[in-house]
Parts: sequence; structure tokens; C-alpha cells
Amino acid sequence: MCGIFGIVTDRETALGPTLVEAGRRLSYRGYDSVGCATLRPDGTIDLRKDVGRIDEVAERLGFREMRGTRGIVQLRWATFGAPSQLNAQPHLDSDGDLVGAHNGNVVNNVELRAQFLAEGMTVRSTNDGETCVHAVERYVDRGYPMLEAIRHAYRDLQGDYAFVIGRVGEERLYAFKKGSGLVAGIADGAAVVSSDLPSILPLTRRVLRVEDGEIVVLEPGRVELRRVEDGSLVFREVETVTESMEEAQKGGYPHFMLKEIHEQPERARELLHLYDASPHVEAMVARMRAARNLYLVGCGTSYHACLLGAVYLARLAGRPAIPVLGPQFIPQCVPAVGPGDVGLFVSQSGETKDVLLALEAGVARGLEPLGLLNVIGSTLMYKSRVYLPLACGYEISVPATKTFLNQALAFLYLALRMGGHPTAFLQGLPDLLAETLRSAEPWVEGLVADLAGRDDLYCLGYGLTYPIALEGALKMKEVTYAHCEGMLSTEFKHGPLSAVHDGYPVLFVCGPEDVPRIVSGVNEVTCRGGRAIAIGEEDDRLRANVHDLLPLPRAGPLLNPLLAVVPLQLLAYKLSVARGIDPDFPRNLSKTLTVD
Ligand code: G6P
Repeated sequence: MCGIFGIVTDRETALGPTLVEAGRRLSYRGYDSVGCATLRPDGTIDLRKDVGRIDEVAERLGFREMRGTRGIVQLRWATFGAPSQLNAQPHLDSDGDLVGAHNGNVVNNVELRAQFLAEGMTVRSTNDGETCVHAVERYVDRGYPMLEAIRHAYRDLQGDYAFVIGRVGEERLYAFKKGSGLVAGIADGAAVVSSDLPSILPLTRRVLRVEDGEIVVLEPGRVELRRVEDGSLVFREVETVTESMEEAQKGGYPHFMLKEIHEQPERARELLHLYDASPHVEAMVARMRAARNLYLVGCGTSYHACLLGAVYLARLAGRPAIPVLGPQFIPQCVPAVGPGDVGLFVSQSGETKDVLLALEAGVARGLEPLGLLNVIGSTLMYKSRVYLPLACGYEISVPATKTFLNQALAFLYLALRMGGHPTAFLQGLPDLLAETLRSAEPWVEGLVADLAGRDDLYCLGYGLTYPIALEGALKMKEVTYAHCEGMLSTEFKHGPLSAVHDGYPVLFVCGPEDVPRIVSGVNEVTCRGGRAIAIGEEDDRLRANVHDLLPLPRAGPLLNPLLAVVPLQLLAYKLSVARGIDPDFPRNLSKTLTVD
């Protein structure tokens, strides 16, 4: 993981504010340490880095005052080497005339470090980003010009990563990548490169997407792509991006998470509008219908959407589908995969490595890959035979909310179409979501005082609400740091029931068809002194048995799960704030995991 950004300008300027702004936009990719380096025309490098969030470290180390003609900022999410000042990036080479930073993982960094030390280089950290710098240094020291040195270094570095590097006494920055995303941009008198698009859009809309095996050479106002293989020039059209950047602002909300929860009615409306008009829906349905085996593959929140998708597909289209976590797809499914099989890969970012590796392993055995993704231009988009967008705009907060809702809605839409059912009733969903948001807020507020001090909670559901219980529990875990386990309500009695004692809280997510079963589960908890909290449609049987009930608008069994997730998201958010946590950037997590 991590995020990198580099800029080249035609004259010495105060690059600090630009680097800080780009770094803030990249923070969702990593935020345990941060560093900035500027290269100045006098041949010096100003390198400042430390453990902490960008705003705090930038203030403490004076990032905004940094000047130069070239600059690099890196946001770190630690994999190799604990978060520390030394392991923070960017890194210098032995003599301090190269400076670089990476995102992703260089998996042979331990072996390379031993070689570099044996060759007499100065290695300061245990971070694999430093390995990339020395990999280039090795060939620069042997007399190769930068481009040639990078071509050699590329062959030595194993793993999936993106890397940016500069050398004193030049006017250029260089970047290259393998596996991870990298975008370059051309501006007046400047050129930029970054792990993602949002960090460069405020500076330019003229972009070039970099592919594996290419080296980007950045000069003021100019970007050149060269092949690692032979150093030859790559000709690629410059793309003009028209996406709006408004999404990336909080718009009056205290946190992105709350804003994104509140955007859900509108995002659902947009998805329906898009799918009603899109020929790709039919193309997707046809492939899923014809599949010998249909796999639904995702990680984290996206996996929960796959679980719900499998229930919708079975129920509405009689289509069995196998939901599976990305990394488990390889041992569990790939040995049995063959031509005629279809995999629907679900990912907000479209960059999750666990998902992309699963896709590649399936494709190698003849599987046809389909994609459901939010980030247009992502690796998953390019690797999918047919893909559908989630139409959510930028999701900045690390915990996924609006993208889960639209993933679930996309599955419902596909299942309805596959089963030959009308989709018109879905038009009522945005209003139902808005109504749910209105009624949930005060209810959730009422629970916060009681639950904020708890470090232990269960969230149970059954059938269509089972994936919702898992997703609700994941939200709580991510943003409250409390243990919250989601499970099938009927499984609770097979073990976890032993945890219940006086006042122990258990949340039940109840579908309108499952009331009797949930009521049994509720009583197993309450008769042992536990506290049962339920989310479901108003029902006398439910109300009579639980301590608290949030009545959801009457929407029927198919839409109920899409409404039920909303109060759980809000509860996680409010508990997070009550516990003094920043829900947008929970500790140790990252929004896009491009590492194993
Ligand atoms: C990370 C994020 C989760 C997300 C998961 C899968 O763990 O923190 O919020 O659900 O990755 O991400 P994807 O982009 O593939 O949906």
C-alpha cells in the first residue's frame, strides 16, 4: 500500500503547499507516516519525514515552506518495517544524491538489502522503498545514465509497486511501476505523477495512464514514456479527464463517512438511472446466465456484497453462485475452474491485489472475468471482459458505505433482470433510504451513550440480512476498535451464546420473512440477561421481545437489507466519534490494499 506523488516544475518555487495538498488527497492509502523531499537547483535535497498524519507532521516539520524545482511526497501504510522516522519515505541513496519513494511491496527486499550492504552501500532502514533507491544507485554507480540504471533496477525488483525517483543535478523525475496503478499528468510548465487520479486533478486534467514495464520521464510541461525492455519511446494519446472533483470535499459534514452515508439515496438513484439505460447490463446478465459455474469474488465489504448477491441470484433467478473471498478463491475454486466458468469480481477500488490475483489465476484456467467496480480506469476495469460501474463518485472515507449500498443494489438489479422480473419498483428505493436515514439518526443517537463504552458486541442476521449483519459488524470493527462479530443468527447458540450475561448487547437485523426465527434467537439472548436490539420492519412479535427496535420503512424482503445497513453504518459512525476516533482514517487500515 501507500501513496506517492511527484512534481517537476520549470523554476524554483514553494512546492510545499502542492505536496501537502496532494498528500492529503492520497491519505486514504496510508497514514501512519509521511515524508516530503524537494530537489533544489543548487544540488541539495531537503528531506523531511516522520511518523504521524500529514496535517500534524506537515505543521511540525514545516512542509509548506519547502522549496525546489522537483518534489516528492509519500504516505505510508507499513508492511516492511515498523512505522518509524527511519522507515518513513522518501529515502536517500548512500551518497544522498538520489531520492525516491514507492508504494506497494518489493518482496525480495531482504535479499537485495544484503546484496547492497555487501556492495558497500549505506542502507538506513528496513523499508522496501529504500531498496528501490539502492536498486537504481547500484547501476548509477556503475556509470549508467539514469534511464539505463532504472531499466536494470526494474529487473532486480520483484513485487508489485510504483516508484518515483529524482537525482540532483538534473531537471527530471522518473517513475515506473509493476502491478500498482500510476498516472502521469502534464500541466503548464510542470509535470506530475501519482498513485491515483484525484491527487493530480487539481493541477491538470491532461493525463497519461502508465502501464507495467514503462518508465515515465517527467520534465517541466512534458511527459515521456519509455519501455523498460529496450528504452524505446511509447506513443500514447493524452487523455482529458472530465470528472468533477466536488466529491472529494466534505461539503459541510464533519467527516467523509457521514457525508457518504447521506449520499446513498442519490447514489442509488444514479445507479438505477445508469443501469436502466446501459447495454452492458444485458451483456453481463447473458454471461452470468450462460456460466457453467458462477463465482462472486471480493474482499472486505465487497465480499459481503457478494454474499448478498448470491442470495438474490438464487432467489430471483434460480442461479446458483459461489461467493468467495479473493485469496481463498485460489486454493478453493481455481483447481476446479475451466472454460465456461464466469467470475464476477467486485471491488470498490478495482485495485485490491487479493482480488486481482484471484482474477488472474481464474483467467489462466479459462474463466471469463466480469467486473463490478467504482473506480473507472482501475486495473480491474481493464481486466474485465464486461464491467459495470458503481456510480458512487469518490469514496474517500476508509470504511466503505455508499459503495456497499450500490454493490448490493447492482446485484439485486442483475438478479431481477436475470430472472425476468420487472425492476421498476426499485425506483422507490432512494426515498426509502432517505426516510431510513431520517428515522435512524435519533434512534442511533439514543443508543450511543449505552454502547460507546462496550468493547464487545454481536450483530446477527439471517438469510438476506446475514450479509448485512457481517457488514454492520465490519463497520463497527473498523471505526470503533471494539470487537464486533457478525454471524448467522442461528449459529449464535452453537457457541457465542456463552458470552451473554447481564446487559450484554446483541444486535439483530431482521427481514420481514424471518421474524419467528429472529424472535427465537432474541429470546435465547434475553432469557440469559442479554440486551436485544433489533433493526427491522415494525412487527408486534419483534417489538414484544426486544429491548429496542428501530422500525425500518415497509419495503418488503428484497429492499429490506438495503435499508437495514444504513442504521448500522450510522451507529458505527457515531460510536466512532463518541470514542474519539477519526472514522475516516481508522488506525492500521487502508482504503485500497494493493499488497498481499
Ligand atoms: C480494504 C478497505 C475495505 C474494503 C476492502 C476491499 O480492506 O479498508 O473497506 O472493503 O479493502 O476493497 P475493494 O476496493 O476491493 O472493494
